[in-house]
Amino acid sequence: GAVKVHMKVNGRDTEVDIDPRTSLLDCLRETLSLTGTKKGCDHGQCGACTVHVNGRRVNACMSLAVMHEGDEITTIEGLGQPDHLHPMQEAFVEHDGYQCGYCTSGQIMSAVGLLNEPWGQSDAEVKEAMSGNLCRCGAYKNIVAAIQHVRK
Ligand code: FES
Repeated sequence: GAVKVHMKVNGRDTEVDIDPRTSLLDCLRETLSLTGTKKGCDHGQCGACTVHVNGRRVNACMSLAVMHEGDEITTIEGLGQPDHLHPMQEAFVEHDGYQCGYCTSGQIMSAVGLLNEPWGQSDAEVKEAMSGNLCRCGAYKNIVAAIQHVRK
């Protein structure tokens, strides 16, 4: 049977009634219609599904929604608005940090998450910190430039 889970999603108290086998990713995309978070591999390998759980970046495909009772979840929809972008979103626009855009939500959520992690200042460290987020178009150079713009 379905299970009730209470989360704070993008600042809003949210109750969902879901099958306990539902991933956090499917809960966000299908139950809550927050389709900004993308599904690439569904196996923890591409990072397209990156969201923040209590401020830390996680792959939403890799955990079950029922594990998040009481948690604060932030998705790309909660980061900024079209008329009021987060500085990381602005930097991705300025530096052309995307091509097809499919990985972009995950790249940006991951990049914002790394701002609160103890990485060094070099491009190599940013690449390492972002190694869980794949971009099949190969926009890595501009993604790193966007992130460094925000970090400096
Ligand atoms: Fe979650 Fe690829 S969809 S890591």
